[in-house]
Amino acid sequence: MKKNTLVTGGSGMVGAAMRRVLPSAYYPRRQDENLLEAGALYAELRAINYDYIVHLAAKVGGVKANADFVSDFYYENEKINQNVLYAAKEAGVKKVVSLLSTCVYPDAPHVTYPLTEEQLHMGPPHQSNFGYAYAKRMVDVMSRAYRQQYGCNFITAIPNNLYGENDNFDLENSHAIPALMRKIWEAKLNGALSVECWGTGRPLREFTYSEDIARILVFLLENYNDAHPINIGNTE
Ligand SMILES: NC(=O)c1ccc[n+]([C@@H]2O[C@H](COP(=O)([O-])OP(=O)(O)OC[C@H]3O[C@@H](n4cnc5c(N)ncnc54)[C@H](OP(=O)(O)O)[C@@H]3O)[C@@H](O)[C@H]2O)c1
Repeated sequence: MKKNTLVTGGSGMVGAAMRRVLPSAYYPRRQDENLLEAGALYAELRAINYDYIVHLAAKVGGVKANADFVSDFYYENEKINQNVLYAAKEAGVKKVVSLLSTCVYPDAPHVTYPLTEEQLHMGPPHQSNFGYAYAKRMVDVMSRAYRQQYGCNFITAIPNNLYGENDNFDLENSHAIPALMRKIWEAKLNGALSVECWGTGRPLREFTYSEDIARILVFLLENYNDAHPINIGNTE
């Protein structure tokens, strides 16, 4: 099984962790297979019969990037996901594991905590990232639709906040952990006594190391075949 797996988004943070956990898989680069182009992945799948796909590729960013480029986040993610799942269905790929994200869940007061999978579509996502969130939610819809109509074993997993090697440390579009690391590191280098943190400081988050997520993805590839999305990650 492990030798016959293609992983999209292999140059990213989770992709780097997947390479360490599953080095035998194939990791196409964006310059070779731009997933915004409809036929790119299909041509690859026609040439080599991959049985399994771990679909990580996405336009990903922090709160500011999501707010500034909300339409791009919707368009690119929707297109990438459509292209990957359609190509997998057409090529007869046995199983696809796709990643959603905890931030695609509805915002309060539409949900109760802890977040459970059946609450995924129960209300609008947070306004700050609704483009990314709706595009990601559609991966669940598409996966279940292909399963129902064509019998495809397409599953989805919902990780919480991730961090790890190869993360994005750009101050404008990174996530909380790398942004805080960089701000504090630069403050130390410059002898500054304080750093500016965004937000109210009140949100509670769960963080999971990228390599743990990669191991969970391999476990799901081998053991989880349910139509329903599954929450994954550290609960601390
Ligand atoms: N980071 C988190 O906290 C977090 C939390 C929950 C879920 N997730 C999910 O986990 C997955 C991986 O996230 P990540 O943090 O590893 O993101 P990342 O570091 O930004 O990596 C994204 C990957 O997608 C690729 N990609 C983007 N657009 C593409 C395109 N048009 N064609 C081909 N490849 C394309 C990127 O390639 P380039 O390197 O060429 O740009 C990169 O390899 C995503 O699906 C994300 O939604 C992440």
